[in-house]
Amino acid sequence: MASPACAATVSGAPFAAMDFPLQPRRPTPGQRALAEALARGEAMMGEGIEQLPAATYTDPDRFAAEMRLFRTLPQLVAPSALLPEAVSAVAHDGYGSPLLLTRGADGRAHVLANACRHRGTRLVDGDEVVGAKRIVCPYHAWAYKPDGELSGMPRAECFPGFDRSANGLRAYPSAEIGGLLFYAEDEQADFSDLRALEPDFDAFGMAGLHLYERRVHDVAANWKLIVDAFLESYHVQRLHAQTIAHFFADGITVADRVGPHQRAAVGRAALLERADLDDMASLRRAVTFTYALFPASIVVVSPDYINLLVCMPQSVGRTLVEDYMLIPEPPQTNEAAAHWQKSWALLDGGAFGTEDFGAAARCYRGLASGTIETVTLGTLENGIADFHRRIDAALAR
Ligand code: FES
Ligand SMILES: [Fe+2]
Repeated sequence: MASPACAATVSGAPFAAMDFPLQPRRPTPGQRALAEALARGEAMMGEGIEQLPAATYTDPDRFAAEMRLFRTLPQLVAPSALLPEAVSAVAHDGYGSPLLLTRGADGRAHVLANACRHRGTRLVDGDEVVGAKRIVCPYHAWAYKPDGELSGMPRAECFPGFDRSANGLRAYPSAEIGGLLFYAEDEQADFSDLRALEPDFDAFGMAGLHLYERRVHDVAANWKLIVDAFLESYHVQRLHAQTIAHFFADGITVADRVGPHQRAAVGRAALLERADLDDMASLRRAVTFTYALFPASIVVVSPDYINLLVCMPQSVGRTLVEDYMLIPEPPQTNEAAAHWQKSWALLDGGAFGTEDFGAAARCYRGLASGTIETVTLGTLENGIADFHRRIDAALAR
């Protein structure tokens, strides 16, 4: 469960919240403990500088070793809100394997192989959600139900002795936890550390949110450089001077860990004094929570919306980052539509898409040039050092 850890934070952003009817929810004990620490002024800082070899980010052999983490640990694939309707499906390729995310008639989500059991043909193309009453292979028209069951084979008599029931689409281990859909390549993968965060996600009402927008960013950077940006607050007043810095002008940060996952909170002192720490809506106006789900997904909780950043490494110097923005309900008025558009542009277009990801790409260019051999982390950046220690520990297992 929660264990004390490093300082850290947040590239997150509060934003002038509208009065959306967020359901009254209580923070979890862990969330409340961070808020109380902020209220006491307990900003966490490291004790001294630390250094990392530049090759941590640029060595192809290191990258190949790290990919084992992505194969053995559960990975975030999408918010539940990507598939709001039963009997629907969407292709997902960012992690390398051709996946098919589906929701069955009973509402259960599945992560299946997007490859026909007959001769391997890709079943669903594109990145839009499609109806999935029957998923029909374009080659010989084998048909599958959204739970993967093989439900139809033309000229079935041509396959004597073939066990249809044992030849549904390959199903990966998966779990929908607090409004987020995770999957694993490894049959033995353990989802329990993520389940420990379910009360936190429930406290945000994540499972009931509406998907406002999603976008894939193609970032020319090592995946860890992108995660690093969400583990330190040092850059916020500088890199984000034109976008979100003013929201964090009086920001202080605390963090802890739930298993390998980091939970951070940055508080705004002026608002924290007046906040009701037992009411999540009130707390979210004063505190931005950010979760770094090990190894490479980020959840940023702004006052009235949430961004998920799903980092999917493609090579040592290239990472796809899918940004999902979740809002309480579909926009009902022009004012609401304009509000969400502004929020989307502020973070996806500005703070994340241009500034954080742009900095990661520039950082990678510098490191890949071989000009410097080590990077130096100050006391406000020890969340990064802690993250890299957790990677080293996971690789050593
Ligand atoms: S490859 Fe799918 S039906 Fe033949
Ligand atoms: Fe940032």
